[in-house]
Amino acid sequence: MDNDFSYGFIAFRIKGTKTELLFLRRKEGFLDVPKGHQEKGESQMQAALREMREETGLVPERIIKGFRMNAEYSLGRDKGKRVKHILLYLCRISGEPTVSSEHSGFEWLSEDEMRRSNESFIGNAKAGLMEAFDYIRRNEAIEKLNSEYSRLPDLHKGWSLSRNFVPGTGNLLAGVMLVGQAPGAEEDRSGVPFVGRSGKLLDRLISIAGLVREELYITSVVQFFPPKNRLPSREETALCLPFLRRQIEIIKPRVIVTLGALSSYSLAGVERIALNHGVPVIQDEVTYFPSLHPAAGIRFKKNVALLEKDFKELGKLIG
Ligand code: URA
Repeated sequence: MDNDFSYGFIAFRIKGTKTELLFLRRKEGFLDVPKGHQEKGESQMQAALREMREETGLVPERIIKGFRMNAEYSLGRDKGKRVKHILLYLCRISGEPTVSSEHSGFEWLSEDEMRRSNESFIGNAKAGLMEAFDYIRRNEAIEKLNSEYSRLPDLHKGWSLSRNFVPGTGNLLAGVMLVGQAPGAEEDRSGVPFVGRSGKLLDRLISIAGLVREELYITSVVQFFPPKNRLPSREETALCLPFLRRQIEIIKPRVIVTLGALSSYSLAGVERIALNHGVPVIQDEVTYFPSLHPAAGIRFKKNVALLEKDFKELGKLIG
């Protein structure tokens, strides 16, 4: 079987309370999205952007972080001979498309219209495409919440954490969420969690568990850097924890990996992490998997083996 790869966008617009996805009608009859092959020297995202421009004449107003949809299909003359693999990003657009000669027209479809439709959407990618509606809703909710959370320093006299907000990153449809303690100095500078030395170790642990970072959601109990990497105080934790809980409600992970004592205690009530790491706790249909914080592995080499063992177990748990 031949393999063929293409990159594109699920493009949406919001009109009042209505969200609609853009589809291009193929001359063969099915509904497609703007997508195509990668040209030499292009990244996957650059290929998707060029295809979007060429096939619709539109430029994304905003690319929605964290969303990726993978699908495979084999249709028409390709059936049984060639598998087409697609990777789609998500973007917001406005304006009407001007379709290229490859397509016979376009349609805007709401979630309801899509659900009722009997059309063929890129083979049988309809269910995957419809997840975009859920993602858009979650993205709006997280952005609203994070905008409120980021203003916390202005509301509290004597705020002594950094004023730079380091929100969670990753896939808002993630089944697995990883929660650390608080950002470090490098995260404070970049605004992205787990990019420093602990982050490098965490990346390795994620691959030991057989997971892919882009498919997870990664964050911390306290999302502001405590100067000199000190432990957040009880009051600071109490101020920040409700925001984390609301983020969890939006993302609804099945498994939450709590990294270190603060996260394990705050979310799952697990005490004495040195004894209880690697032992899952189930509460309200969520499996909490307590482990050490990767920083403990940076500080003491012997902890690296413990972390690796936990993440192997995590891989088995997730299957
Ligand atoms: N440790 C954390 O708990 N969070 C980060 O973002 C980085 C290090």
